[in-house]
Amino acid sequence: MNKSILRQESNQYFIEDVKLNDIAQKFGTPAYVYSKKNILDQINFLQSALSDIDHLICFAVKANSNLSILKIFKESDCGFDIVSGGELQRVLTVDSSNSKIVFSGVGKTVSEIEMALNNNILAFNVESEEELIRINNISKRLSKTAKISIRVNPNVDAKTHPYISTGLKDNKFGIDETNAISLYKKAAALEHIKITGIDCHIGSQLTDLSPFEDAFIKLASLIDELESNQISIEHIDIGGGIGISYNNEEISPIDFYVQMIKKHLLKYNKKIILEPGRFLIGKAGLMLTNVEFIKKSDHKNFVIVDAAMNDLMRPSLYNAFHEVINLSNSKESNDSFDIVGPICETGDFLAKERYMHANQGDILAIMDVGAYGFSMSSNYNTRPRIPEIMVDQDNFYLIRERENFSDLIAHEEKLLERS
Ligand code: LLP
Repeated sequence: MNKSILRQESNQYFIEDVKLNDIAQKFGTPAYVYSKKNILDQINFLQSALSDIDHLICFAVKANSNLSILKIFKESDCGFDIVSGGELQRVLTVDSSNSKIVFSGVGKTVSEIEMALNNNILAFNVESEEELIRINNISKRLSKTAKISIRVNPNVDAKTHPYISTGLKDNKFGIDETNAISLYKKAAALEHIKITGIDCHIGSQLTDLSPFEDAFIKLASLIDELESNQISIEHIDIGGGIGISYNNEEISPIDFYVQMIKKHLLKYNKKIILEPGRFLIGKAGLMLTNVEFIKKSDHKNFVIVDAAMNDLMRPSLYNAFHEVINLSNSKESNDSFDIVGPICETGDFLAKERYMHANQGDILAIMDVGAYGFSMSSNYNTRPRIPEIMVDQDNFYLIRERENFSDLIAHEEKLLERS
């Protein structure tokens, strides 16, 4: 699974049955384009790999929070992993009665907790004692009972980029494994708290999935301890983190992951909750961008495109690799280029040292940007956010319009006369 969504046929590139040039012509560049089939294939693939495990896939909304995409997950019977009131409202917009929502994050505010309680979410993944107390107080005030898991920090090295590694004891996430049981005991004594689970998320973009085994072993021993303290749970949330191949990296097979779940966690007979984001949506999206200028000097060549770091942050922020395909000219070349945007920062690049032919007016595809692409984009340099387009067989349609200048100043313009 996780194949490229791009297909080449007699010098034309397609997503499903749509020519990419037609999309660029109709909606302009830059633009995000997704394949619905690829998203559905990934969901089905994961669901069938887990078919003999009682499980619930809670899509990590932060990876891609477009409403039309959330609707695909809802229609595939998925739940959602959210990290803000805004994400909760997005989920409720596509599914007003969704109760398959887990709420992660270290800084849940009073109003976010209220909103989550009023919408009967499946579980709060509690990340600190103070948060637990806050949730209990709010539940009491609202005459509710909050269902909670404690997010355990198992002190496991996920061997991924340090910015997206979360399961080490120096990270801000979760409760230190050594303090988890005492916090569970405190939670058990709180009147407006119902313990329903245990939770753990060790990081994102794991290509070698073996660190999960260390985390599962630690979860198992904590569950044993909970049981011996007569604290019962209904689910085990194993977080997200399964990686995808951006640059031909080898990814452990998903069966290996499933076998580890079976080996360490199945014996407890609990529902297994997963919170995958990237694995389900990462390969489903690409970004189209137009070559504006070719700038050559004696020692460096640049392809200057109309997309920039505000549209796709991953290369600037994590030095992340995304494959770049020139849809207008796929011939091999000995010339190396950095592909850069128009933003006034040296960190504004989409790719470095790529061997390619490029001419003004060529259309490039930046691959594998379905996860953490649009969702991390911004308006930096007063650049309107770019449209998102869904391809479904031989159809393609907008799922988010290109922003315009009025959108950008909407919250300032009416205040201008006051200043
Ligand atoms: N659950 C929790 C609690 C998380 O913090 C995350 C991601 C996920 C699930 C989903 O992880 P995934 O399956 O997508 O790896 N912006 C970064 C990734 C940040 C991930 C943050 N947490 C990037 O572009 O690589």
